[in-house]
Amino acid sequence: MKKICVLTGAGISAESGVKTFRDEDGLWENHEITEVATPEAFLRNPELVLDFYNQRRRQLMGVKPNAAHTALVDLEKKYEVHIVTQNVDDLHERAGSSSVLHLHGELTKSRSSKNDQLIYDQKEDLYLGDLCEKNSQLRPHIVWFGEAVPEMENAISLVFEADIIIIIGTSMQVYPAAGLIDFKKDNAPVYFIDPKPTIQSTDTIELISEKASQGVQKLVDKLLSS
Ligand code: APR
Repeated sequence: MKKICVLTGAGISAESGVKTFRDEDGLWENHEITEVATPEAFLRNPELVLDFYNQRRRQLMGVKPNAAHTALVDLEKKYEVHIVTQNVDDLHERAGSSSVLHLHGELTKSRSSKNDQLIYDQKEDLYLGDLCEKNSQLRPHIVWFGEAVPEMENAISLVFEADIIIIIGTSMQVYPAAGLIDFKKDNAPVYFIDPKPTIQSTDTIELISEKASQGVQKLVDKLLSS
C-alpha cells in the first residue's frame, strides 16, 4: 500500500468552528502568547493559563469534525495514511483516522507538571490544586512556545517514508513543524491545501487554493480514483 503523510494545521478545523491562530479574529489576536502559552506564563499566572485552555477545551466539546477530516478517513481505503497534526483538538480521532500524531499536544489530556510521563485524560476543566498521582500540579498536555517537541523524530520518519505528502490549513510559521516538508523524499509530490497559501508551487508542490472541506474532498476523490 502506498503511504500518505498528512500535515494539518488549524485551518482544517476552521470549518468546524475552531478558531485559527493568525487569521483575522484568530486566537493570537485576543490573547498574548506570552500570557497564556509559555512555561513562564504558567509559573507567573497559572489560573489565567488554565482558564485559557479550559475555555478552548469546553469549546471543543461543542464542535465536530468537518468534511475534510472525514475525507482523510476515506483515503485509508486505498492508502496507509498517517496524520501529523499541529492541532491540539481531537477532531481527526473523532472523524475516525487510525494514525494521528500530535506535535503540539492534546487539549483533551493533562499531565503532571513534575513528570511528563504521567499523562491523563482531561475532559473536564483543570484547576489549581488538581494534582497528579505524585501530588504535583496538573498542567495542560500542550507543547508551549519554548518547549521541546518530543514527537518530532517520529514525525520526520513518517514524512520521509511517505510516497505522497498532503499539507492542509497551516501558515507554516511555527518551527520545527514547518520544517517537516524538508524531510520528504525528493520525488514525493506535495499537495498544499489552503485558501491563502503561504508557499510557492514548484515542480513537486501543487497548490490547491481552496477551503479544506472542498479542497480535501476533491483531492481524496482524485487519489482514490487514480
Ligand atoms: N481551510 C483550509 N485552510 C484554512 C481555512 C480553511 N477553511 N481557514 C484558514 N485556513 C488557513 C489560513 O489561510 C492559514 O494559512 O489555515 C492557516 C492557519 O494558520 P495559523 O492560524 O498560523 O495556524 P497553524 O499554522 O496551525 O499554527 C501553527 O502555531 O500558535 C501555534 O501551536 C500553535 O499549532 C499552532 C501553530
